[in-house]
Amino acid sequence: MQIVREIPELRERIKKARQSGLTVGAVPTMGALHEGHLSLLRQAREETGFVVMSLFVNPTQFNDPADFEKYPRDDERDTALAASESVDILFQPAPEAIYPKDFDTVVVVRSLSDRLEGASRPGHFTGVSTVVCKLLNLITPDRAYFGEKDWQQLQVIKRMVTDLNIDTQIVSMPTIREHDGMAMSSRNVRLTPEQRQASVVLSRALGYTQDIADTGVINAYELAAWLRQSIAVEKLANIDYAVVVDPETLQEIDTIENGAIAAVAVKFGDVRLIDNRLLRSPITPAAPR
Ligand code: PAJ
Repeated sequence: MQIVREIPELRERIKKARQSGLTVGAVPTMGALHEGHLSLLRQAREETGFVVMSLFVNPTQFNDPADFEKYPRDDERDTALAASESVDILFQPAPEAIYPKDFDTVVVVRSLSDRLEGASRPGHFTGVSTVVCKLLNLITPDRAYFGEKDWQQLQVIKRMVTDLNIDTQIVSMPTIREHDGMAMSSRNVRLTPEQRQASVVLSRALGYTQDIADTGVINAYELAAWLRQSIAVEKLANIDYAVVVDPETLQEIDTIENGAIAAVAVKFGDVRLIDNRLLRSPITPAAPR
């Protein structure tokens, strides 16, 4: 595995890989790797001939400077993990390489960026879409891998790639969870043991919402109310949002008949966690004979 910090070297190495007939896979990350990231790397390794993982804690997507400062960083461990997953290039640029002094352009996916995560974290998705656009321009991957854990981010990226005619296939990967159902996240290490125990309420509430839907409830507002209620029983949970919305536009919907996503953002102390689950519409019971 080559560790590359400079853009010209990155471009040169990728050009050579392509010339030798390899397809290129990209896995953008902010490091503090866990099994979720590794599942993306493994899929990329399986499907493409040359895997580029980027490790860049992107300052422009942190609306809260304290969150940026506290974001977990462990370069040595991340490098070892990337190497053990047979990554070809670990691209780890300095902030100045990505955002030079005169940098003055942003990519905004307008309506998708304003709701839910975007409403709670102003500017967050502009930071994400801008840096992902740059990474896709730098790596020019055939395929780029993103997790459903960050569902809204995934929709923002798909919209951007379509709208800007970026020649990369976006591959979405299921959320990897701990044994108790908790979605893996780099931020989980910041939870106290008590908060960690409490945080399982998120995946449980999402599962419970599906159970309610399975009983025949298809009204999105009613399901969202159940979702909120089942999180609110946990005293340490401070709900930011808990909604049932359209899976692509993230707009409000009346019923879940044409697909829906249940999405939550909840704070435990000063650690903000997100999770989501696609809701199945209930199977219409067979008519009595
Ligand atoms: P980061 O949080 O490091 O996540 C990198 C990728 O791993 C994202 O596509 C994310 O959705 C995926 N991921 C995180 N947790 C996961 C889990 N439990 N299961 C499956 N996949 C998971 O997301 C970012 O970085 C940044 O916003 C980035 C796209 C790199 C732009 O800076």
